[in-house]
Amino acid sequence: MQKPLPFDEAFVRKVAETYPTPFYLYDEAGIRQSCRDLNSAFSWCPGFREYFAVKALPNPWIVKIAKEEGLGADCSSLPELILSERVGLTGEHLMFTSNNTLTHEYQKAISLGAIVNLDDLTHIDYLKETVGLPELLCFRYNPGSAREGNVIIGKPEEAKYGFTESQLFEGYSRLRDLGVRRFGLHTMVASNELNGDFFVETARMLFDLALRLHSELGIHIEFVNLGGGIGIPYRPEHKPVDLRAVGDNIRRLYESMIGSTSLHPMKILMENGRMITGPHGFLVTTAVHHKNIYRDYVGVDACMSNLMRPGMYGAYHHITVLGKENAPHDQLVDVVGSLCENNDKFAIQRSLPRVDRGDLLVIHDAGAHGHAMGFQYNGKLRSAELLMSADGTVRMIRRAETHNDYFATLDFSELACGVQA
Ligand SMILES: Cc1ncc(COP(=O)(O)O)c(C=O)c1O
Repeated sequence: MQKPLPFDEAFVRKVAETYPTPFYLYDEAGIRQSCRDLNSAFSWCPGFREYFAVKALPNPWIVKIAKEEGLGADCSSLPELILSERVGLTGEHLMFTSNNTLTHEYQKAISLGAIVNLDDLTHIDYLKETVGLPELLCFRYNPGSAREGNVIIGKPEEAKYGFTESQLFEGYSRLRDLGVRRFGLHTMVASNELNGDFFVETARMLFDLALRLHSELGIHIEFVNLGGGIGIPYRPEHKPVDLRAVGDNIRRLYESMIGSTSLHPMKILMENGRMITGPHGFLVTTAVHHKNIYRDYVGVDACMSNLMRPGMYGAYHHITVLGKENAPHDQLVDVVGSLCENNDKFAIQRSLPRVDRGDLLVIHDAGAHGHAMGFQYNGKLRSAELLMSADGTVRMIRRAETHNDYFATLDFSELACGVQA
């Protein structure tokens, strides 16, 4: 089965004349459409806002596109906050959802007026004693065995994130006693979830908690954040989440559970990364070597440091050999990079057409948690990122690393390592 591409071989060959492979290519029109689809599914909810999870694709050009589509930014580190600020996102257009957070990160988030989402009960005092408490605070709930997670985020009861239910009640009453006046409630239970009902259940869980916090403690939750985690169809046979159905089902739930209570109007927030950019990013790489031992291998010029999801999670990423879309897929191969790790494989025992040296391979659905997870182990360098606009023009939005970047943090100055005799 094939997966469609927003470009063809001739286009990519032309791009590769200016920007050598490997590179990431992002489709701006697709990213904008994903933002619009999500906003439209929740257009019934006046305070709805999606905060793009910056960790998925931390590039200012992408965050700017998200901002233009009305999205905020969800940050979890100091650099992500700075990046979002430089794109012009401040105040409650920023969500700060971190864990094991350090003072300087809280300081920056609070100085920007971001909504701070605490990951642990002990952080109330940590924040109070170091930076001071803001007027609005949010807690991250971990439902433990009440919900199932998945391989990416782990089972909730084994995951390091969030408060238990009893800690939530203790935490909100403590905040109230300390004079905090505005409250939010957050959770993030799964990642890459393709079952839309999962998010409806998450909404039910948070609506129920908000109601109980109100009746038992008098806490007025002004927003619930359902987290990110909307999945994307990595495999050709997968179906995308029906966002319209998710929005409609959450609307019905909202009307029956919240609509006639004093919590109404309560805002609904989300912080997806993958569904916004994932399907619209492509890692383009060139076939270089063939190797035949106990298996057949196709060696490409990208490696796991460009995209570690297959090695890290065993994730499937579809591969198209450009120009050979309709050729018989009768070769069973592993597609590998050049890292000295045996999990440096983009595909394992995949049926592909015959791949020749110089063929361009497109690795699909790499637009989220792709380049962002890159690393330099083994002296491998991160590739360039290119943005394709709707009229087909291509702009480099991050240059490829060079060896000088790799050496930039080292000091060779007092080492007597000239040419050896
Ligand atoms: C707290 C938090 N929010 C949002 C996201 C984005 O998740 P996704 O890209 O699967 O939507 C993540 C992903 O790791 C996360 O940890």
